[in-house]
Amino acid sequence: MLQNLLSSIVKSEVILKLLYRYLVIAGFCLLLCFNPAIADEKTITHFPERIVLNLTETPFKSQAVTWRTTQKSGSPRVEIIPVSELLNPDKSPKTFPAVTSVVELGENTFAYQHSVIFNGLMPDMIYAYRVGDDPWSEWSQFKTASEKPNPFTFLYFGDVQEHVFSMCSQVFRTAFQKEPEAGFWLFAGDMVNNGPDDSLWAEFFSALGWIPRTISLIPVAGNHEYPDPRKTPRDELHITPLWRPQFTLPENGPKGLEETVFSFEYQGVCFVILNGNEQTAEQAPWLETVLSKNRQPWTIVAVHQPVYSISERKNKTGFQDLFVPIFDRYGVDLVLQGHDHSYARTLSLKNHQPVSDKEKGTVYIISNSGPKFYSASNRNDHLMAKTLSNSIWFQSIRVEANVLKYTAYNMQKEIVDAFEIKK
Ligand SMILES: [Fe+2]
Ligand SMILES: [Fe+2]
Repeated sequence: MLQNLLSSIVKSEVILKLLYRYLVIAGFCLLLCFNPAIADEKTITHFPERIVLNLTETPFKSQAVTWRTTQKSGSPRVEIIPVSELLNPDKSPKTFPAVTSVVELGENTFAYQHSVIFNGLMPDMIYAYRVGDDPWSEWSQFKTASEKPNPFTFLYFGDVQEHVFSMCSQVFRTAFQKEPEAGFWLFAGDMVNNGPDDSLWAEFFSALGWIPRTISLIPVAGNHEYPDPRKTPRDELHITPLWRPQFTLPENGPKGLEETVFSFEYQGVCFVILNGNEQTAEQAPWLETVLSKNRQPWTIVAVHQPVYSISERKNKTGFQDLFVPIFDRYGVDLVLQGHDHSYARTLSLKNHQPVSDKEKGTVYIISNSGPKFYSASNRNDHLMAKTLSNSIWFQSIRVEANVLKYTAYNMQKEIVDAFEIKK
């Protein structure tokens, strides 16, 4: 009797153990099925990626956003609403349909780049937006510019170019911590080492994380956004076919240079972006026209290759003859550049010479924001206020009504250079 009882207890224990084991395995399987990360990887390949805000030529009333999916998306679009109304059940967001371009990445591999320009926005307003269709991205937010001059800060980066994911992620995070309210980030070219290589752009966007979903980027075309000139026939030397689909930039430049040469106005500053890689002669009369019509109190130009180089290598751009007379004539305040992989700030210059304290001149800056370094040479030492070598920097530029405050930081957030321009 006792033996029978013990035997049935042991049997039930075995059954319970087996049941327990089955339950654990079933639970684990259920978890696997419902783990969103695993589900995303396997099934949701058209999830929006590389979401990036760009400024338009009128950032007080419009804003551009671009994103990518790796599968054809049903009806890609954006929803947008003032952030103050996002949680109000009586308000609904506006919808903007996207324009899609297909980019061939390799044999039978395509990316679908979607872009929207929001028009009719209110100045000085924080908007929430999301992109996609099914699935949607998360809601992000951005702020439109003021319609009139109003103090603001923007960040300027030199070349990031190499080891962008492993090394430059921390540069971007440090810069964001230092100036979280920056109006936009300007990259002076060579964001990647080989423009046509999509995997390098993947690194660039991964390093930036969610930052370009909330702060607009202004990219300048560097020589590394082009194919290698040593391996490419001259007539095929055009900017990477990834550039125009993955950014949505103003198209108000000279014909054939849309989205690499353009101008925009931002809260009292006329910004002019030049392309130092091709058709530079055509850009001079266009620049002259833009600056002759400019009514903004400040003028800032960006171009990748430096006007006054500090490179050891022969590095003559021809920009001293082509652009400097125009910069001088219209009193350009700052020229932001990259390319030399070191740091330089000139004295205030006019006609290739330092000016006296009472005269108006232009300050030319070269910076480097990635781990590729060259030493600054002394080739233009007589024009320089400061040179630095072998490090990574980012720059904060604050523009107010009567003063422009420039600060260069290293990765420890220490100030390495600073100056002011007073109107
Ligand atoms: Fe570079
Ligand atoms: Fe370069």
